[in-house]
Amino acid sequence: MSADIWSELAEYNKEIEATSLIELFERDPARFETFSITLDDMLLDFSKTSLDETARNLLVKLAEASGLADKREAMFKGARINRTEGRAALHTALRNRSNEPVFVGDEDVMPGINDTLGQMAAFASGIRSGEIGASDGSAFTDVVNIGIGGSDLGPAMATRALAPYHDGPRLHFVSNIDSADIADLLKKLDPARTLFIVASKTFTTIETMTNAETAKNWMTRAVGEKATNHFAAVSTALERTSAFGIAPERVFGFEDWVGGRYSVWGPIGLPLMIAIGPERFTEFLEGGHAMDRHFRRAPLDKNMPVMLGLIGIWHNNIRGYGSRAVLPYDQRLARLPAYLQQLDMESNGKSFTVEGEAVPQKTGPIVWGEPGTNGQHAFYQLIHQGSQVIPCEFLVAAQSHETDLQNHHHLLLANCLAQSEALMRGRSLAEVIENLTAMGASQERLDAAVHQTFPGNRPSTTLIYRKLDPYTLGRIIALYEHRVFVEGVIWGINSFDQWGVELGKELAATLLPLIGEESGFDEKDGSTRGLLETIARLRRK
Ligand code: F6P
Repeated sequence: MSADIWSELAEYNKEIEATSLIELFERDPARFETFSITLDDMLLDFSKTSLDETARNLLVKLAEASGLADKREAMFKGARINRTEGRAALHTALRNRSNEPVFVGDEDVMPGINDTLGQMAAFASGIRSGEIGASDGSAFTDVVNIGIGGSDLGPAMATRALAPYHDGPRLHFVSNIDSADIADLLKKLDPARTLFIVASKTFTTIETMTNAETAKNWMTRAVGEKATNHFAAVSTALERTSAFGIAPERVFGFEDWVGGRYSVWGPIGLPLMIAIGPERFTEFLEGGHAMDRHFRRAPLDKNMPVMLGLIGIWHNNIRGYGSRAVLPYDQRLARLPAYLQQLDMESNGKSFTVEGEAVPQKTGPIVWGEPGTNGQHAFYQLIHQGSQVIPCEFLVAAQSHETDLQNHHHLLLANCLAQSEALMRGRSLAEVIENLTAMGASQERLDAAVHQTFPGNRPSTTLIYRKLDPYTLGRIIALYEHRVFVEGVIWGINSFDQWGVELGKELAATLLPLIGEESGFDEKDGSTRGLLETIARLRRK
């Protein structure tokens, strides 16, 4: 049945391909109302995409035929939907503020989640007040999260996003195995006032464990045996945290049914909680939960994550646009594109369905982006005049936190709206010539008029919210999580495993003993051998 709908979509696309966005607005002046969704003080406008009612209805039919409603309920109810790892995917339980029981097997997981939240709150409050202090009794001034991927990007992105609410100690994030990352940071810190949180679901990730050992050595050199007072851990692997020497009361556990890239809502969010306090963190959870309720209850065509997912399918699979740009006109969301790269590309960068069949469609698109207006002065040239169409996803707050700098925010808003308008409208050769003629331009300029034309008709969506507060950030993250889920369901893939990261890890382990050697590279391919020889030569001098 899905196959028929895919064909119907492809056929229908041929019919409407030639219709421009401007024409769609001319035909239907109420298009904005029809093709936007409001959830309280948040609005998703997708009227500047080429969807019309028929295309939208076909996409909704595709979602229905893919079993979206049942699969969505299976996720919320703790079924083992992550079949290749034999686990549930229950990040939604971490923010289940209704406290309705959620079962994994026979066990209601809510009491455990609430206990852990209580422990996190006690610890975060203790650190913030100075009650839990450093080995010399003084308050911690700096907290360093050591983690990578989902154990870094979520708290790092969210802590930056919520800077106006930051009233705890300074937060730092170390992730890269490159010694530059930790070395540059340690130079700025006073060990006597520094707390490290070692965040790793598995507690085996080589980057995190190497950075954690370096931090431990640095701390031990400064405070000796009392170094353990300067460490806490977040992990599912409690034996390993204790082997590392972290006191059990300083370890915040979570279960294997929370995927790394979905884990900011629980103990991996501890740095955020330390920064903004438990109450604000609860508002963040409330926001995620509000989006969950909307995703579960709203009809599919009025459902923000569903429609965002279906627009993704339309652009990627029907229109053939292989990437999408996430463009927050919100400097504090500077790390959102990086966060979404992991969320989206690690989740949906798959080629086989759950059943092991090759997926006939192209799956996860390339996700990238930068905050506006900075991107305007860098890569927007290609978005406007390049030969590929890149659907753009704008995000912007109606209100800024800087009430005394309103002029900045007016300019920011005007620029954000100008970009989606320019992408849609474009500028024809006739318009350019008319403008140039009115300006009295030379014949040479007129002959080169084509370079100033814009094709227009380039799709975008805009997410507007009142203000970037903890509740709204929670809604934004949950919106994107569910969008990834919707797309994964339509392709029939498992969005919750990440086997694709393993081969590189294994090969790194086999290459490690060869680094620093002069020979022994014979079994490697020509390129890798050449690179190893070059490294050996360059390290001699
Ligand atoms: O290598 C990929 C990955 O497993 C991600 O999925 C995960 O977020 C990251 O590494 C970190 O893993 P961990 O939290 O176990 O250190």
